[in-house]
Amino acid sequence: MKLLVTGGCGFIGCNFVRDHLREFPGDTVVNLDALTYAGNPENLADVEDNRNYRFVKGDVADFDLVEKLFADEKFDAVVHFAAESHVDRSIENPQVFLRTNVLGTQSLLLAAHKHGVKRYVQISTDEVYGTLGPEGEFFETTPLAPRSPYSASKASADLLVMSYFTTYNLPVLITRCSNNYGPYQFPEKVLPLMTINALADKELPVYGDGLQRREWLHVSDHCSAIELVLQKGVPGQVYNVGGVNEKTNMEVITRLLEILGKPASLIKHVKDRPGHDRRYAINADKIQRELGWKARVGFEEGLEETIRWYLDNRAWWEKIVSGEYRQYYERMYGGR
Ligand code: NAD
Ligand code: DAU
Repeated sequence: MKLLVTGGCGFIGCNFVRDHLREFPGDTVVNLDALTYAGNPENLADVEDNRNYRFVKGDVADFDLVEKLFADEKFDAVVHFAAESHVDRSIENPQVFLRTNVLGTQSLLLAAHKHGVKRYVQISTDEVYGTLGPEGEFFETTPLAPRSPYSASKASADLLVMSYFTTYNLPVLITRCSNNYGPYQFPEKVLPLMTINALADKELPVYGDGLQRREWLHVSDHCSAIELVLQKGVPGQVYNVGGVNEKTNMEVITRLLEILGKPASLIKHVKDRPGHDRRYAINADKIQRELGWKARVGFEEGLEETIRWYLDNRAWWEKIVSGEYRQYYERMYGGR
């Protein structure tokens, strides 16, 4: 199979590309990534010499570039990760979220349809369902009710994707996953941010009361779910992914401090995120029942292993914190 992965230099994309090349060594993977602040080609440094892997720098919303890539490469399948992914940034600057997340998806759909792609997987999020009270869960049939510019742009993209199934019979599939954690997560997201701050004995900024609830899934479990959907999912279907490890932010941050041996006095409650979703909880029975997916990494074990990864890979995040990681592309790829 010849696979186009978009956003492969980001957190989940790089984990997926690495896992896919290991599991399917006969496949070819082309990684299209614009290298925004969140994209770091060093995340895939270990596969750069693999003959079945190729990196292309480019913007998914640049239709001419996307069209040429599809015409040249004749992809069998697309897994679309590329997105602006951080809720706080979407509150500061929503415009780029609409361009990348909505227009970028439209440009890929157009090319995928035109060039007869056989599988198109859209990586969506549980945030499209909005927020929950203390009870209840999100099902695939739950109406979309996004509340931030980020989740509104992801929900818009999902609607476009489904329209290509209905109107053009494009074999699309959508995954909607809960919060991921694991290696290579950009240190703006809560777990790496708090880890790095704690290591430097800096304050940990907890939004509001910190009793918001999230469901934590190790990135390797998300990637295995995407792989199953890519290989065996039924076109036109949505698959929720997650359904384990619901925790309040305070529970997660307190445990993180315990693992690092740092004092709880580092926690500082700060002004809440505007429109902050209170609780997410995914019902993932469908993907378990129909595709046999199961999460393998328990939260305690996964959290310890992830913190260990950040401790062992200081150089990786120190280059991000200092901005030095931006030079890697120039060094590796020069003017290409
Ligand atoms: P990330 O921010 O770490 O990475 C995004 C990647 O996309 C980067 O490499 C960036 O350079 C690239 N990109 C951004 N704009 C682009 C553009 N216009 N053209 C090409 N490439 C572009 O994101 P992530 O956390 O890895 O999330 C990946 C996907 O998974 C997103 O679609 C996100 O909505 C979804 N998702 C994330 C989570 C999570 O917890 N992180 C959970 C569920 C779903
Ligand atoms: O649910 C899936 C989503 O999870 C993905 O679609 C998003 O791409 C991903 O960024 C993530 O969104 P969240 O907003 O849940 O993740 P974040 O790490 O930004 O925040 C997690 C929780 O921690 C949230 O309740 C806000 C809180 N938080 C976050 C930061 C950055 C803090 O209290 N302090 C912080 O400094």
